[in-house]
Amino acid sequence: MGAIGSDAVPIQAVLIVSASKPAEPPVVDFRGVTVRFGSFTAIHDVSFSIEDVPNRGEFICIIGPSGCGKSTVLNLIAGFLQPTEGQVLVAGQPVPGPGRDRGMIFQQYSSFPHLTVTQNVLFGLEINKHEIGLDRAGRSKRAKELIEQVGLGGHEHKYPHQLSGGQQQRVAIARTLATEPRILLMDEPFSALDEPTRLEMQELLVGLWHRLQPTIFCVTHSVAEAVYLAERLWIFTKAPGQIAYDIRDAIPPSIGLPPLEAQERPEFKKATMVVTEAFRSVLENSTAKSRMSRP
Ligand SMILES: Nc1ncnc2c1ncn2[C@@H]1O[C@H](COP(=O)(O)OP(=O)(O)OP(=O)(O)O)[C@@H](O)[C@H]1O
Ligand SMILES: [Mg+2]
Repeated sequence: MGAIGSDAVPIQAVLIVSASKPAEPPVVDFRGVTVRFGSFTAIHDVSFSIEDVPNRGEFICIIGPSGCGKSTVLNLIAGFLQPTEGQVLVAGQPVPGPGRDRGMIFQQYSSFPHLTVTQNVLFGLEINKHEIGLDRAGRSKRAKELIEQVGLGGHEHKYPHQLSGGQQQRVAIARTLATEPRILLMDEPFSALDEPTRLEMQELLVGLWHRLQPTIFCVTHSVAEAVYLAERLWIFTKAPGQIAYDIRDAIPPSIGLPPLEAQERPEFKKATMVVTEAFRSVLENSTAKSRMSRP
C-alpha cells in the first residue's frame, strides 16, 4: 500500500477485521455476490458486512469508474435486482424485493408531480399506515416535522413543478425518510443540482443522518462530496466491479461543518488527496486482486 498512503485500507484487511461476530445480524451482508447481464459481468464476487449497531447507522459513500456496478450494488440492496451468484442479506434475511425498511433516492427527482409537498411526504405513510401504526394526526405531525427538517416549511402546498431542483430533491428526501427506513440508498442524489445547492444539500444530509441515524449508501462521482459526506468510503474497480479500497480512518468527521469550511481544513485536504490517489490507481487499471496480493 506504500504508494497510496497508509490510510487507504485494501479490502482484504477489512474482511479480516469484520470476521469478529456482531451481536445482531449485519444490517447489510453481501456474500460472494456476482451479477451478470447475459455474458457481461457487472460485479464479481463482492463481499462485505455492515454491522447493525443500535442507533448508529454507518454512512458509506461509493465512488468508482462509470459502469463499474455502483448502481447495481444499490439495486441489489433495494431489492430491484437479484444476484446471479451469492447472497444479499438485509438484517440477516435474503432480500425478496423492495421493502419500506429501505428507501431509495435517485438523481432525477422522484416526487409525484400531481401531489403537493405535504401529500408527497404523506404518501408512504398512508400506504404503510397499518405497519407504521400512526393515526391520521400522527402521520400529519411526522410529515410536518420532516418538511421542516429538510427546510421546506412554507412550501407545503406547492406542487413539484413550482419548486426548484434542490427543493424537489428535499421533497424526495423527506418522502423517503417519512417511513423511517433503516437503510437509505442514494444514487448520485445531488449531481443534477448547481454547486451552491449541492453544498447545501450535502450539509442537510449529514445533519439528517446524524439526527436519524439510518445506514446510508450513497453513490457519487465527486471525491470532495464523498469525503465530506462519508465516514467510510469505497472505491470500486472497473467492471467487473469489486471493492478495491475501503477507506475509514482517513475520513474526518464533518458533523456541524459547512462543506466549504470543511474543505479548507488540512485533514479534509489530506483525505481528499488519499482518496484521489487511490481512485487514480483504480482508473489506471490495477485490479483488486493485484492489490490484495501486495505485502
Ligand atoms: N439491465 C441491464 N442490462 C444489461 N447491462 C446492464 C444492465 N444494468 C446495468 N448493466 C451494465 O452493468 C454495468 C454496471 O452498471 P451500473 O449501472 O451498476 O454502473 P454504475 O457504476 O452505476 O455506472 P455509472 O457511474 O455510469 O452510473 C454497466 O456496464 C452497465 O452497462
Ligand atoms: Mg450508476
